[in-house]
Amino acid sequence: MALIKALSQNEQKDLAAREAVRLVRTISSVAKPYMVLGLGSGSTAERFIEQLANEKDIIDCFTCVATSIASEEIAKEKGLTVVSLDEVERIDCAVDGTDRITRDKIIIKGLGGALLREKIIDYRAEKFLIIADESKYLDKIDGKIDDWIPVEIMRFGFKVIMGDIVNLFLTNVSGSVVEGWEEKIKQRMKKDNPKEPFITENGNFIIDIRIGLKNVSDAVNAELMLNTIPGVIENGIFVARAIEKGDMTCIIAYENGRIETF
Ligand code: 5RP
Repeated sequence: MALIKALSQNEQKDLAAREAVRLVRTISSVAKPYMVLGLGSGSTAERFIEQLANEKDIIDCFTCVATSIASEEIAKEKGLTVVSLDEVERIDCAVDGTDRITRDKIIIKGLGGALLREKIIDYRAEKFLIIADESKYLDKIDGKIDDWIPVEIMRFGFKVIMGDIVNLFLTNVSGSVVEGWEEKIKQRMKKDNPKEPFITENGNFIIDIRIGLKNVSDAVNAELMLNTIPGVIENGIFVARAIEKGDMTCIIAYENGRIETF
């Protein structure tokens, strides 16, 4: 009996990226004289950039805007044209990775720290493609998700901002903090130096919180409520866009080599 080799996580990322290139190619063939493409951040998005750059016959059709310095550098190095967001009038399509994707399209991003620029670009794109390996996918509809959610906040007053987040999300109906709340909120520190705070490309801090999203409407509510706190700049829940614009496609590559698009 022939054994089917399971794909590694990196191979799954490559597969999802390849499928995104195929879709972008079909969009580019119907796009105006040229297409503005938003480039996501993280290792899956980088694989997409590299594979897109291999499509020599179409790369001249693209002007790209990048969601991080790393993505911009890779894209430029590979020969793609990258301009600042202020130089484009529209974004036709954005392709980005994710840290979590559920069947009902609850998306949580930002473990790489690029969530603010990602949201600025991804939310403005006419079409939004999410690419992910199987480890990111949860086959859940209306199931509780208890992932860490990144929240980018101002450095100024970060303790009071954290306090506001606790008051809004980690208290019970009687107004007292929930048991074990200290385990559900933390300031992100640098990977290579855990004593120093992680600083985003925008010069801000990141707070990671676990608030247990129950379903899509709970996720939309949390996405919007977090941003009402003065000092919160953006958060990593990417759900409101899908509700507003609808045009979002998720591409998942599985260990067994299957690709699913929904
Ligand atoms: C960065 C992100 C990334 O898209 C997310 O962390 C996924 O990264 P990777 O593709 O490396 O698993 O949101 O802010």
